Amino acid sequence: MTIRAVVRGVGHYLPARVVPNSEFETLVDTTDEWIRSRSGIEQRHFAADGETTSDLGANAAKAALADAGMEASDLDAIVLATSTADLTFPSAATMVQAKIGMTNGFAFDVQAVCAGFVFALANANALILSGQAKRVMVIGAETFSRILDFNDRSTCVLFGDGAGALILEATEGQGTSADQGILSTDLHSDGSYRDLLYVDGGVSTTGTSGHLRMQGNQVFRHAVEKLAETAHTALDKAGLGPGDVDWIVPHQANIRIIEGTAKRMQVPMERVVVTVQDHGNTSAASIPLALSVGKARGQIKTGDLLVTEAIGGGLSWGSVVLRW
Ligand code: ACO
Repeated sequence: MTIRAVVRGVGHYLPARVVPNSEFETLVDTTDEWIRSRSGIEQRHFAADGETTSDLGANAAKAALADAGMEASDLDAIVLATSTADLTFPSAATMVQAKIGMTNGFAFDVQAVCAGFVFALANANALILSGQAKRVMVIGAETFSRILDFNDRSTCVLFGDGAGALILEATEGQGTSADQGILSTDLHSDGSYRDLLYVDGGVSTTGTSGHLRMQGNQVFRHAVEKLAETAHTALDKAGLGPGDVDWIVPHQANIRIIEGTAKRMQVPMERVVVTVQDHGNTSAASIPLALSVGKARGQIKTGDLLVTEAIGGGLSWGSVVLRW
């Protein structure tokens, strides 16, 4: 008998305000055509004044609980991936815990920027496999609009706000790749790439929250290569290959990265869940958002084999293979 962390529910939340590319034409020297052709993004959502990352996360968490038919008190833990928490401390996870009315268990944040949800999933899986928790809510929630420099056309057009949540439950499996649940994880980081993608402020440096800085074309080069490699490694670990994949659910940063990675993995685009056109890059929220939207569209079905992969600041990158 093998314990597996099996998906019991999924949900998402997007702030009401939709920001089309055309809005940026009035802010910086850019065009809708440039943004679409270079990134695939058509619009993104921005949180309202006073709407915080934990508000977005709590709404996604409530949607996932409803999908699973569970109460907040059924959960043992919340693992929340974010780089844009409400406050320096306490964690956004504990704020979500309070907002959904959960007073038992434990909650903490994971920070691996755009790779955050993959890192959070791997941590939640480890909590379940070790027996520390039976039911874990895994959330990706971000308000990247709060750390954008709206004078920098090379970054401000790319990001958006949102949240997605997944509930994992310990379930007995057979120990084979036919099991439902998380089948393998593969995580990496290399801090020597710090300057490619960072925020130029923080508690122990400037005392401010700072703004996002990115050498986009350098990150792009690393992205396709590292994402395809980690996805292959995770599939190998699960005893599976690209031909077994029903859906790649990638981090939604740029359609060209998504297409390049799928091509390297030899998986056709018909088997890739794509939401970047509607959400922009929502960092740690992008994969759970895509999982929730992919299920709602009728793409992702019970028994499907999914590969999630993401790369972000650090650099940090990784992949999780799971059967839905
Ligand atoms: N509008 C018009 N022109 C622009 C804009 C804009 N919004 N932004 C940049 N340009 C210009 C540049 O100034 C440059 O002009 P130049 O040739 O005169 O110098 C030209 O467009 C080309 O710039 P590049 O940066 O080379 O363009 P590229 O094709 O690489 O696309 C992009 C840029 C979209 C940022 C791409 O590199 C990318 O997606 N990179 C990866 C992003 C990513 O995946 N990040 C990881 C996750 S994010 C996280 O962890 C927080």
